[in-house]
Amino acid sequence: MKVFMRVLVFGGTFDPPHRGHAALLLAAAKKIRPDKILIVPAYQAPLKGTPQASSKDRLTMVRLGILDPLPLKWRKISRLDAREARARRRVFTVETLGALKGADLHFVCGQDSAVSFPKWKNPSLLKSSATWWYGARPGASIRPSTHFRTVPGRFPSISSTEIRSLLALDQDCSKELFPAVLSFIHDRRLYGKRMVARLSTTLSPSRYEHTLNVATLAESLARRWGADPVKARLAGLLHDAGRRYSPPELARYARRRRLAVPERAAILALAPMLLHSYVSEDLARREFGVSDHEVLCAIRRHTLGDRRLGLLDRILYVADACAYDRTHATSAATRALAFVDLDAALKRCVSEKLVHAVSREAWLHPLTVNLWNCLARL
Ligand SMILES: [Fe+2]
Ligand SMILES: [Fe+2]
Repeated sequence: MKVFMRVLVFGGTFDPPHRGHAALLLAAAKKIRPDKILIVPAYQAPLKGTPQASSKDRLTMVRLGILDPLPLKWRKISRLDAREARARRRVFTVETLGALKGADLHFVCGQDSAVSFPKWKNPSLLKSSATWWYGARPGASIRPSTHFRTVPGRFPSISSTEIRSLLALDQDCSKELFPAVLSFIHDRRLYGKRMVARLSTTLSPSRYEHTLNVATLAESLARRWGADPVKARLAGLLHDAGRRYSPPELARYARRRRLAVPERAAILALAPMLLHSYVSEDLARREFGVSDHEVLCAIRRHTLGDRRLGLLDRILYVADACAYDRTHATSAATRALAFVDLDAALKRCVSEKLVHAVSREAWLHPLTVNLWNCLARL
């Protein structure tokens, strides 16, 4: 490589690559005017979980969704660099840039990656080894540190995480993804198909049916009360993912993964099935790639509740208690009430859960008691 050749390095997980990535690269190329462009998909982003799509599939999608749409002028000097994706281990950016030493390096990434820069490996060395650029996402409130320059332009606010959630729910993503990428995802049954297929094979038929019912009701309630319907549906789909396990398996899972469960010893001894919401949250994060805090929180709280519940927490709690498959005498009335007064419906759901538990002389978790005490004051 010629000394001082100007090289634009575009890094990311690209799981999947979307129109925002393509727009950012094009705008960066126009601004930086490089001699060469390297698009470098990561094998695994050091600060994120394992990508849902394989390296091989992501390399193909990057070709279809970032490289191919570039105007010829820029495509001619661009190369898909598979050194990280094919490494079969985490490769740190400092290693990749070290291997490209001798060039005038310009590293371009999205806003989320740029914000996390202080946590990257060896940030001080990194800072001096390239010029750093990021594309600002509308609505993103936290800005990266000052050594980052802004790529001029307005880029779509959608993230790959949100797109994965949309795909999982069979929502239309044609605005976010190029048709070739979308076809590839459908042909390979990536993302969404995987979630629903996995749930249908790991849960019992009745639990799977219940899951779909909760997702549908949670989505409707979210529309009624101004919450995000996609998040509500996602939380509904995954809330009982942990119910694939028996109580002893849940106990083993919680121990092995060292899940932070309040009153863990008492739960393990008295009611291990109550662990399923914590296991579902862990599965949502690890197996299904969910990183949204609100969704994870709602899944975690759907069984025991908590002193303070957010809007999505309340929606999922109620949807779970009075979904269409629930056959208690009061289910239909509670469901109707939930569209008129969500908190009154929540109060009724918690009260019925407590009465049922007391009638069986069951142990009550302090989080549920706390929730009731807060609701009793309303
Ligand atoms: Fe549950
Ligand atoms: Fe449930």
